[in-house]
Amino acid sequence: MKISSLLASPHGLKGNTAGLLRHVLDGAQAEGARTETIVLKGDTILPCLGCDTCHKKGRCARKDDFEPVKEKIMESDGLVLASPNYIFNVSAQLKAFMDRCCGVIHCMSFWGKYGASVVTSGGGGDEAVTQYIDRFLITTGALPVGSVSATMSLMPPGDLFTEEVRTSARALGKRLVEAWRAGAVPPEAEKSRGEFRERMLALVRYRAEEWPYEFQHWKERARA
Ligand SMILES: Cc1cc2nc3c(=O)[nH]c(=O)nc-3n(C[C@H](O)[C@H](O)[C@H](O)COP(=O)(O)O)c2cc1C
Repeated sequence: MKISSLLASPHGLKGNTAGLLRHVLDGAQAEGARTETIVLKGDTILPCLGCDTCHKKGRCARKDDFEPVKEKIMESDGLVLASPNYIFNVSAQLKAFMDRCCGVIHCMSFWGKYGASVVTSGGGGDEAVTQYIDRFLITTGALPVGSVSATMSLMPPGDLFTEEVRTSARALGKRLVEAWRAGAVPPEAEKSRGEFRERMLALVRYRAEEWPYEFQHWKERARA
């Protein structure tokens, strides 16, 4: 299994989120997965311009790292999204990537992949952020297998994470590999993904003339 992870913190590999992500990836590697981490510090994937080129042509018009990162994800079986909690949400670095995935979402291009979310915060409120990431994963077609988070003010001084957090992070990595190996489709995620697919089909059918790439995409898959 190949796993790509996006680490969306300006502190990069030295930050808290990187520390927690490391445990998730250790758990996945112990199960035989190959992993690659892409650090989004904010200057390599810029905000969406809302130009609709992705809907019309299937590629983003902006010349930055988005398309190469998308390609890496397309070649992967798993996607881990890791972000610090920034004002009750993902960091702007991750949000820029998510917005740039508008075409990916319309086509649900990550269908068949498995996902997980990793969040750290100073004071808590992580669940809203992991839920947001999981919702994003479903709209791309990926199936989220779970999440792990850490509130840093509750962690022991001098030691980045408690044993409990480390154990659940490693278990998440393991679960990601096991879900992929089994081809597992959790019923709740499948229901949400199926409902979203119907929404995308209706939208793309409605905009068929303006968005020929997306219309063709679904025509080949679902008699749009
Ligand atoms: C701009 C900014 C916004 C933040 N917002 C929150 C917040 O809303 N809630 C919270 O608990 N922590 C918040 N924090 C703290 C970070 O989530 C926390 O320090 C996190 O572990 C940083 O991860 P990193 O080292 O990987 O960048 C914020 C930090 C920054 C810099």
